[in-house]
Amino acid sequence: MRPFLKWAGGKSQLLKAFAARLPDPIKESKYIPRYIEPFVGGGAMFFYLKTHYQIGQAYLLDINPDLILCYKVLQQQHRELITQLAKISAEYTQKSKEERRSFYYEIRARFNQQRQSLDRQTFNQTWIERACLLIFLNKTCYNGLYRLNRKGEFNVPYGRYKNPRFYDPENLKEIHHALQDTQLIWGDFEKAKEFVTKGSFVYLDPPYRPLNATANFTAYFRHGFSDQDQKRLAAFYKEMDRKEAFLMLSNSDPKNEDATDHFFETLYQGFKIERVPANRFINSDAHKRGTINELIIRNY
Ligand SMILES: C[S@@+](CC[C@H](N)C(=O)[O-])C[C@H]1O[C@@H](n2cnc3c(N)ncnc32)[C@H](O)[C@@H]1O
Repeated sequence: MRPFLKWAGGKSQLLKAFAARLPDPIKESKYIPRYIEPFVGGGAMFFYLKTHYQIGQAYLLDINPDLILCYKVLQQQHRELITQLAKISAEYTQKSKEERRSFYYEIRARFNQQRQSLDRQTFNQTWIERACLLIFLNKTCYNGLYRLNRKGEFNVPYGRYKNPRFYDPENLKEIHHALQDTQLIWGDFEKAKEFVTKGSFVYLDPPYRPLNATANFTAYFRHGFSDQDQKRLAAFYKEMDRKEAFLMLSNSDPKNEDATDHFFETLYQGFKIERVPANRFINSDAHKRGTINELIIRNY
């Protein structure tokens, strides 16, 4: 199983480093009684664990309502979603280069219009269409970004991929099964508190702290994650540590840019802080892609 969306900060390349650092009881038994992921995003870690370990109960949270809606559709109506995806991808594929571009903008407009009248409380047919449109946009927009303007409209431009692969029906079926004993929760990470018990495994992958203070941060993320939120998260981490849960947190390492930045050392003093190499875009300029360190912070 692998993520069905491209997601900023996707963790696919770090999975081996995470697997090597799982709590011993999990490594030995291959069983995770309770798994909690408060910033699930594309879910690389969840899908990896679900493939290689047995999971008792899982709780996946994210503040992005469209993302959680999409997971819920996969959980409840994956067949209908696959049918709609087949339709939209066939329609797109048969178009010329120029037509594809205008089709993208039509779909984007439909997605934004739909939001006005969407009932997010009760599962309904519009959810399936919305999940389909989100997957389509994710696979055809620039860099797979999810970005909203101030009015809450998705405003990422067209990405011009030659032959985007929209979906893999087998993967979606497996995800559907994987989500059967999983709780999907839309909201802030603090909502996860109520699910954390002694021995739970909690993996935390919050939005990156911007590498420099001038980073155009809030413009890109409607739900920007400020230093104040990082502090709120550290308080959450300490509270869950007192509950005796196993905690693993990843973040970008500010020391990549500024060796004197001790932000995370200060916040997570007393916990185990490690650095592992990762490739990632340092900014939107593909030429500046390089190896930088990622932080892994554990309480065990
Ligand atoms: C770095 S991404 C996680 C990436 C994920 N690990 C993956 O492999 O795709 C961070 C996620 O946190 C979510 N998020 C941002 N602020 C949040 C908050 N206050 N509470 C919960 N989720 C939040 C974002 O919507 C985003 O999906």
